[in-house]
Amino acid sequence: MTPEPKAGGNAGMDSDYLEIRGLSVSFDGFKAVTDVDLTVLQGDLRFLIGPNGAGKTTLIDAITGLVPATGSAQKAGTELLGKKVHQIARLGIGRTFQTASVFEQLTVLQNLDIAAGAGRSAWSLLRTRKSVLPSIEEALETTGLTALRDKPAGVLAHGQKQWLEIGMLLVQNASVLLLDEPVAGMSAEEREETGNLLRRIGSDRVVVVVEHDMDFMRSFATSVTVLAGGKVLSEGSVEQVQADPKVQEVYLGTANLAATDPATKRESADA
Ligand SMILES: Nc1ncnc2c1ncn2[C@@H]1O[C@H](COP(=O)(O)OP(=O)(O)O)[C@@H](O)[C@H]1O
Ligand SMILES: [Mg+2]
Repeated sequence: MTPEPKAGGNAGMDSDYLEIRGLSVSFDGFKAVTDVDLTVLQGDLRFLIGPNGAGKTTLIDAITGLVPATGSAQKAGTELLGKKVHQIARLGIGRTFQTASVFEQLTVLQNLDIAAGAGRSAWSLLRTRKSVLPSIEEALETTGLTALRDKPAGVLAHGQKQWLEIGMLLVQNASVLLLDEPVAGMSAEEREETGNLLRRIGSDRVVVVVEHDMDFMRSFATSVTVLAGGKVLSEGSVEQVQADPKVQEVYLGTANLAATDPATKRESADA
């Protein structure tokens, strides 16, 4: 089980963590997320899985202020619920969406520059930067996009766009990253590279990855939380979660804990 941060406890002074307690989201009386508890410590690569409609995206939306929620969601003791989207982003919570949202006409560097400018004055944003900020150099390096920095984002491969989005969160100094299906539509090679990227950035950040791809989860998750019907169904190591009869039941009919989306099902059927 994931250790709980205790008072004066095991998370350490400079450690970050995300602590969600009793979080619920209703849409016109329909409970999309019900009483979710979730603790993710810095250095953990937590996978959040569950069938379509389980409430995974809604949970991320609630943490990032896009939908109203009740309960509590704290980053290292600071309450996020009730704050505005931009305030939450400034507290270091970064998220990606299921579809990549980079500025296609702008170069990789310009995309990162804009991301780095978030929260700065209009003046500093408009001023031409003669040199590349060290944080941007670092993000280019980390995401493996250095050689592509002057290419328009629109010509990047699908995987590279997702890496650019992650790079944009890095230059914003996000220390909690919530990634919604980052490897959807990626080639096997891109998945492998993305997994390695997540390991690199995850060692000193809190990373939650929503994922459908069970092979990807098995390769890279350090811990797993399973959502179903808006509730936490199971939590633990990959092995523990896979062995849980409750988890097997919600994935019944899908080969070997394969996800509900047909593309993944096909892949795991011959695994
Ligand atoms: N804005 C909304 N209004 C009404 N219902 C919604 C809204 N967003 C999501 N839902 C519903 O909430 C449930 C959870 O959706 P979602 O969080 O997108 O699931 P997942 O990401 O796990 O596939 C689904 O039944 C979905 O139809
Ligand atoms: Mg979703």
